[in-house]
Amino acid sequence: MDSLLIYGAYGYTGELIARAAVDRGFDPVVAGRDPDRIHTLGTDLDCRSRAFDLTDDIQAHLSGIDTLLNCAGPFEETADPLVAACLARGVDYLDITGELPVFERLARRDSEAVDAGVSLMPGVGYDVVPTDSLAAHLHERLPEATHLSLALSASGSLSGGTLKTLINGFGSGSAIREDGQLRAIPSASKQRVVDFGSGTQTVMTIPWGDLSTAYRTTGIPNIAVYVAVPDAVRHAIQIARPFEGLMATDLVQRLLKGLVDRFVDGPSEADRAASETTVWGEAWNEESGETVQSLLRTPDTYELTVEAALACAERVEAGEAPTGFTTPAGAFGPDLVLDLPGVSRQDL
Ligand SMILES: NC(=O)c1ccc[n+]([C@@H]2O[C@H](COP(=O)([O-])OP(=O)(O)OC[C@H]3O[C@@H](n4cnc5c(N)ncnc54)[C@H](OP(=O)(O)O)[C@@H]3O)[C@@H](O)[C@H]2O)c1
Repeated sequence: MDSLLIYGAYGYTGELIARAAVDRGFDPVVAGRDPDRIHTLGTDLDCRSRAFDLTDDIQAHLSGIDTLLNCAGPFEETADPLVAACLARGVDYLDITGELPVFERLARRDSEAVDAGVSLMPGVGYDVVPTDSLAAHLHERLPEATHLSLALSASGSLSGGTLKTLINGFGSGSAIREDGQLRAIPSASKQRVVDFGSGTQTVMTIPWGDLSTAYRTTGIPNIAVYVAVPDAVRHAIQIARPFEGLMATDLVQRLLKGLVDRFVDGPSEADRAASETTVWGEAWNEESGETVQSLLRTPDTYELTVEAALACAERVEAGEAPTGFTTPAGAFGPDLVLDLPGVSRQDL
């Protein structure tokens, strides 16, 4: 196999991916900014390791690398310098972001990536492989759809990096896509009831990456993405809305991230084995009223992230992805997610 570099490989998710990559014969190079931690991991996994941070000359650390899989988040802070180096060195770039601004920024580098002969494929984890695949499937069922709604319901706990990424988003409200344009809306201001196949749940909009990716995968101009949260959390978000500006301040952000560093370890193997998620989607045509709905059931978000990231990396390395900015289902089709263990799809 060609050389895959996994950046952020000693993080919670990066290490899960790096271990699975070695098990599957990828012979990866593991990389990260802390020399002790990355070389210890390299020794432990019996694979090559490189230590560099994002202010270094990143290009110099990409020699012999064909594909870079970035697992270091928040990606707001890591994607741009790594992408710039990948474009300069002709290295394909993948990451496991779910951050809307990151997708939007990378989409704007499409022509640069085409010129460099590079695939730019952010979002190869739980965000956004299942939702992107479901969006593509619904679009295939109703090609003239004008509206798309996606909703997630997940059990299980979160890792520190995921929590810090969520904290980064505090204070910026929610968003939807309307007539092809992103529109900011207040947090929890748009809600609906969704039947996830095991009873109904009230869901609220989140500014998820699919507002960028599903739009590019399907071309559907009106998109909303929802998540099921406990009623108490939804009410708390509504009450906290006037204080959103405060949540975005440096002081509060540092305080919350410090608490994450002190108290959060991430889900154990048993936690991951016990958790599962359901993704619901609906596409409709406003004029004809025609509507289609489908459901996906998946294993735990971190388990699925490992499987999805390595499946996408393998296919990118095999030359199956187009050059330029591309979404996972845009590159590999709606059944991408069905190739991952434990995933099933049902048309309603
Ligand atoms: N797509 C998905 O479904 C999915 C699934 C899981 C996780 N994620 C995302 O992946 C990210 C990582 O999650 P995690 O659970 O692995 O978190 P984690 O355990 O905190 O690991 C984060 C990793 O990123 C590195 N990092 C962070 N900022 C960096 C920077 N500025 N420069 C260089 N390295 C940096 C960290 O290195 P240091 O320890 O040296 O800071 C660490 O190796 C989060 O953004 C999370 O939301 C996405």
